[in-house]
Amino acid sequence: MAKLEVKNLTISFRTTNGAVRAVRDVSFDLQEGETLAIAGESGSGKSVTTRAVMGILAGNAMVDGGEIIYDGKDLLKIPEEEFHNLRGHRLAMVFQDPLSALNPVMRIGRQLTEAMLLNNKERRRDGRESFNRTLKILQDKMTAEGSVSGVQDKIKEFDSFVKIAVRQEFAYKEATESMVEVLDGVDEANDALIRRNDRDVREACGRMLRAMKHVYNPYTFAPGDPLIASFTEKLGSFQRKYTGRQQGEMGSLLQEITDSFDPKLKAESPNFFCIGYSVMHGRQPDPAARSIPEINREARRDLDEGFMLSFRKDVEKALEWSEKQSLEEKKKAVEALKAALPVFGAGSLAQDKCAEKLKESAAAVERSIDPLRLEKDNQAYVYRSGVKALLERYFRAFRQNPREEARYKKDTERFERDKARGKTPPSVIPMNLIDIDAAQKSLIDQVSDLIKHYESQIASGPAGGYDKRAEDMIDYLKARAEDYAFKLSQGMARHRAIELMKEVGIPEPHKRYRQYPFEFSGGMRQRIVIAIALSANPDILICDEPTTALDVTIQAQILELINRLKKERRLSVIFITHDLGVVANMADKIAIMYAGKIVEYGTADDVFYDPRHPYTWALLSSMPDLETKEKLEAIPGTPPDMILPPQGDAFAARNKYAMQIDFEEQPPVFRVSPTHWAATWLLHPDAPHVEPPVIVTDRIRRMQEAQKEREMKEAVKGGTEA
Ligand SMILES: Nc1ncnc2c1ncn2[C@@H]1O[C@H](COP(=O)(O)OP(=O)(O)O)[C@@H](O)[C@H]1O
Ligand SMILES: [Mg+2]
Repeated sequence: MAKLEVKNLTISFRTTNGAVRAVRDVSFDLQEGETLAIAGESGSGKSVTTRAVMGILAGNAMVDGGEIIYDGKDLLKIPEEEFHNLRGHRLAMVFQDPLSALNPVMRIGRQLTEAMLLNNKERRRDGRESFNRTLKILQDKMTAEGSVSGVQDKIKEFDSFVKIAVRQEFAYKEATESMVEVLDGVDEANDALIRRNDRDVREACGRMLRAMKHVYNPYTFAPGDPLIASFTEKLGSFQRKYTGRQQGEMGSLLQEITDSFDPKLKAESPNFFCIGYSVMHGRQPDPAARSIPEINREARRDLDEGFMLSFRKDVEKALEWSEKQSLEEKKKAVEALKAALPVFGAGSLAQDKCAEKLKESAAAVERSIDPLRLEKDNQAYVYRSGVKALLERYFRAFRQNPREEARYKKDTERFERDKARGKTPPSVIPMNLIDIDAAQKSLIDQVSDLIKHYESQIASGPAGGYDKRAEDMIDYLKARAEDYAFKLSQGMARHRAIELMKEVGIPEPHKRYRQYPFEFSGGMRQRIVIAIALSANPDILICDEPTTALDVTIQAQILELINRLKKERRLSVIFITHDLGVVANMADKIAIMYAGKIVEYGTADDVFYDPRHPYTWALLSSMPDLETKEKLEAIPGTPPDMILPPQGDAFAARNKYAMQIDFEEQPPVFRVSPTHWAATWLLHPDAPHVEPPVIVTDRIRRMQEAQKEREMKEAVKGGTEA
């Protein structure tokens, strides 16, 4: 499923010289776990496109049209407040210049923990809202279904024991995270022992002591545990007066701590979801008398028999009922959509009638959305805002186009007059008309696409699988409850910051934590910025030329890091670059941008091995070659003026293969394969056949050979490993 869909995005900037048409009709999608590279020369609109996704466009920007759909919402139409939330923890961005992303007068550690604490606050609020909202919908649907008895009591019971569970889990996590923090201190102390730095050893003891206060929990160490008491006493004395002569004693204390904490951290943890239920019914398990696996088994039996098995059946009923209900409503919605079609498709649209049809059809569509579907149906969710925007665009055209035509006529007349007087007047800004037909066509498409989408759902009937979905629903509720119960403490934030610093490859994180940005190299700074971006656990990471300011070897390391993080965290990545070579080994798909448009789009193989647009050829031949150190062939000429974008193909003036039509008309999109398209007249069936330049075909051949060699090596490696 697409994580993010950008459709027909069009953005301009107001400037004193006129509107800069920075992004012109850009569409792409980003699948889960995929890396999309957007490549093109400086000024082609890459940053503006992604800044629109992040909701951080400059103040003079105007979004002239399009949609950015994420999680059932059009990001261009949601309120500021909501955007703030999304940006906080679903979408994150890393910029070219890490210095500007960091506060120069704040220690690195604090910058990380502040981002986390802020994010935790938002996540808790969101978690509470989603939990309550979803549980309420579930209750309503169960009630409406009719055959479930005592709905209110059941929902209340679920709500109560889940809340007990998350509170206990939170307390437990606080204790185990403190244990991990003690072990962090052990590492730090061992490190200081090796360096024979007594002061650092004493400091590490102080840290362990502070964390040791919070390791108590019924499932870890009971208050007053003699082991912890003895650790505390020894650490206290070392903190005051450790000297190098006590190295042996110190070493064995550290070992003792590790030996007693490690097994507890590695063992099965208590299943609080089940335990919460027992606790609610007055059956608090006794960890002193029973092992955790035993407690878990008993609590699960208790919960299943007492509540969950029957509750799951009730949830299944609610899901089934809700889906059937939604299918019935979809039938009605199809009727409403079909009734709207002729009105939207009329020769000329009537504003009040259109408004009425929009209102009716959107209401029907919204009624047909199944609120218990965890995966949102984007098409239905954005129907109202999408159609509304297209209608507005259509009617705005009737006000704006005549004014624009008049302006153009006046400017042209003045131009001719001035020329006749022998002056050299500035050229006339071309007419910027809203394409009325295109607006109406998208409008009709939007409605008919949804009709088709719904009709196929109606035809295939209920999807079933309610047992699996009931399980997912309960897991979802648990996860939201955990979100809101989880209050991040300063200590935990610190621990996580250090973990993140390790994850992004920062050596000596404990020491680095206390340093300022200027004490870091460019590459290390970029790692910190990536750590901050990751601190919120985003699912989309946008990297805007993150390596451009770095030298080549560091660049490779950062790319490797982003690649690794993407795999480990299953991120979807948008990677912006002006240098195609950078993304050769990391992109799944590539969009080539020129003068505000995507001119070629395909998988990495399509674009690297079978490029079709002359601009892509130019980019490929200007790409620095790491292996042969071959000299680059710079792309001749400069990109066009985006206040006056050319009438035809924007690349025509720099393109030695340009034909007459390239100067006159914009090329449409030509499909090369299901995954690959390019907008160039060269792909028109009547165009003369043109081979890519030799430098490009050579390069393709070499890249293919290198690729084969890599594959062979890997096969050999795989073979010996097996
Ligand atoms: N705030 C602004 N005001 C006016 N023009 C802008 C503004 N921001 C960007 N532009 C213009 O938009 C175009 C695209 O810029 P950008 O997306 O930053 O390019 P790049 O592909 O290098 O990231 C450029 O012509 C740039 O000059
Ligand atoms: Mg840029």
